[in-house]
Amino acid sequence: MRILAIESSCDETAASVLSTTKNGKPSILSNVISSQIAIHAQYGGVIPEVAAREHVLNIIPVVAEALKLAKTKPQQLDAIAVTKGPGLITSLISGMETARTLAFAWNKPLLGLNHIEGHIYAAFLELKKDLKFPAIVLTVSGGHTLIAIMKEHGDLKIIGETRDDAAGEAYDKGAKMLGLGYPGGPAIAKLAANYSARFFEKPKETLGFPRPMMNSGDFDFSFSGLKTSLLYKLKADSNWQNRIEQYCYEYQEAILDLLVEKSLKAAKKYQATSIIASGGVSANYRLREKLIERAKIVTPNSQVYFPEMAYTTDNAAMMAAAAFFRLNQNPKLKSWQKEKVELNLSL
Ligand code: KG4
Ligand code: ZN
Repeated sequence: MRILAIESSCDETAASVLSTTKNGKPSILSNVISSQIAIHAQYGGVIPEVAAREHVLNIIPVVAEALKLAKTKPQQLDAIAVTKGPGLITSLISGMETARTLAFAWNKPLLGLNHIEGHIYAAFLELKKDLKFPAIVLTVSGGHTLIAIMKEHGDLKIIGETRDDAAGEAYDKGAKMLGLGYPGGPAIAKLAANYSARFFEKPKETLGFPRPMMNSGDFDFSFSGLKTSLLYKLKADSNWQNRIEQYCYEYQEAILDLLVEKSLKAAKKYQATSIIASGGVSANYRLREKLIERAKIVTPNSQVYFPEMAYTTDNAAMMAAAAFFRLNQNPKLKSWQKEKVELNLSL
């Protein structure tokens, strides 16, 4: 099986080709990403209109490059997959219209997929150990923060999500206040790592960042109070620039404590065999370290999984992976639902 996947939900124009190995595993033949980060960085965040124009310019060259690198002719494709949401509508439309046109011109089936499904399936690429269900999934990106229980392929129920900002947004907005630019995650992570490298043991926290909703009894998150707390602490500290690394470290610890502890509480409650962390924030080394360390103590029977680094932030290989599992493992896809919101997966 060979799948071409296209992703254009935010500020990356991406295409990827996946094929099946002899033993039936997914294998990524190409993973092309044209990033607009440098363009949006000058504005301190993504400008939807600018992103839309860049997608229009990049989408055809990116798809052509993905096919060329994968040495794949259109006739060899079995399906085309595309991100249909959630995302910036003006960005999504470039990928969707391109995929629709190619599917029509090449007479291929078209699969519209949920972006979050892609982030989750990124963790199923290049698996070193088989991932056993039930799994608790933490998806943390610039636009989403959720915990879901995955009982089998395609059977995913959201059990908690953010009530305000996403975790990546907490990083990005925090970085803006600290004058660190966009995207904020890697910038805060770098200064936080510099700070902790100066200590033999885990540094003591003295700034007093809160852990909102840590003991709320559910699996929801709230990051807006943490962000406001950073704002007020900076206002009250005329010397914060000289302690910026400490601010980054302690602010990051607060974000990650919430993500890690809530995921582990969920894993314990649902007796998860596997814990998956995915999405842009899962590129964070400290999150990986903390989740692994704490899982050994709280849920010693669960195995922790992360996507390969290249598949953490937005890319099309993860969409190809989601399509592969949809077509292979579970043709009769069950609905992804939670009480309030149903993610609409059909085109
Ligand atoms: O998944 P993604 O590429 O896009 C969305 O679907 O939103 O995630 C982007 C987010 C941004 O908020 C960025 O700051 C964050 O992921 N991010 C990180 C790291 N790398 C990217 N956050 C923390 N640590 C990182 N190393
Ligand atoms: Zn994403």
